[in-house]
Amino acid sequence: MTAAGRVAVVTGGAAGIGLAIAERLAKDGFKIAILDVVDGAAQQAAEAIAGVGGHARGYRADVSDRQQVDAALVAARADLGPLTAVVANAAVAPQRPFLDMTLDEWNRTLSINLTGTFNVVQSALPDLLEAGWGRVVLIASSSAQRGAPKMAHYAASKGGQMALTKALAVEFAKSGITVNTVAPSSIDTPSVQKKRATGAIPSAEDMAKYIPVGRMGTGEDIAAAVSYLVSDEASYVTGQTVSVNGGSFIG
Ligand SMILES: NC(=O)c1ccc[n+]([C@@H]2O[C@H](COP(=O)([O-])OP(=O)(O)OC[C@H]3O[C@@H](n4cnc5c(N)ncnc54)[C@H](O)[C@@H]3O)[C@@H](O)[C@H]2O)c1
Repeated sequence: MTAAGRVAVVTGGAAGIGLAIAERLAKDGFKIAILDVVDGAAQQAAEAIAGVGGHARGYRADVSDRQQVDAALVAARADLGPLTAVVANAAVAPQRPFLDMTLDEWNRTLSINLTGTFNVVQSALPDLLEAGWGRVVLIASSSAQRGAPKMAHYAASKGGQMALTKALAVEFAKSGITVNTVAPSSIDTPSVQKKRATGAIPSAEDMAKYIPVGRMGTGEDIAAAVSYLVSDEASYVTGQTVSVNGGSFIG
């Protein structure tokens, strides 16, 4: 089977890194199912991909809501066929000093970033098992590798994704399914630009001073790593974290 017969689900695929991944995998020949919580945004992104010759459909779903995820994947199977790859990218990245963090904020971050990952992967996995071929890629973060002030909930959720990657990789290793994590750092997406506008994070130029390659990353940098991990060539790569971070020190 070539990528042309395959269907990739990308959560949070309406913007930023998720959109870049959806665009790249569509170029690679995957049919794309974009899930996003923002009304109409997944459909709009899918139409834009279709407009440049890709094959994509969009579905509104909050990844933290299992019923919404299941319903979206039922629709995606009907529209596109059995699912063969899952990219769990949807996340929120709130900032709050640890001592001020409420239990609700903690639970919300974990429920979108980590339980949302569980929901989409578990809901899609029977198709991958049935095909005897599958690719799962979780988009985590360097914050789980080196910490991040005021982001304990976020860092914990991303560390959970990395541990989940290892557990699933060994559980499904004999089923033709690989499970890997991509850990980005300092990617210049619209949500990062919004935070920058409020003064919550430094300018792109100031951030670049601390990145060995001397620039912030792009969604395309992350998408290129995902493109490899979902390919046939990556069949011997599983349970790994690929750090796409411009050479930043990971302690
Ligand atoms: N941008 C960075 O520098 C950076 C660094 C490290 C890790 N990451 C990770 O990369 C991924 C994408 O980051 P981004 O900067 O593109 O984020 P973003 O905020 O720009 O985009 C996230 C997308 O996910 C969607 N989303 C949010 N909550 C959702 C939910 N409950 N259900 C479904 N969709 C939901 C949003 O609507 C949006 O389209 C995230 O997992 C993030 O943690 C980003």
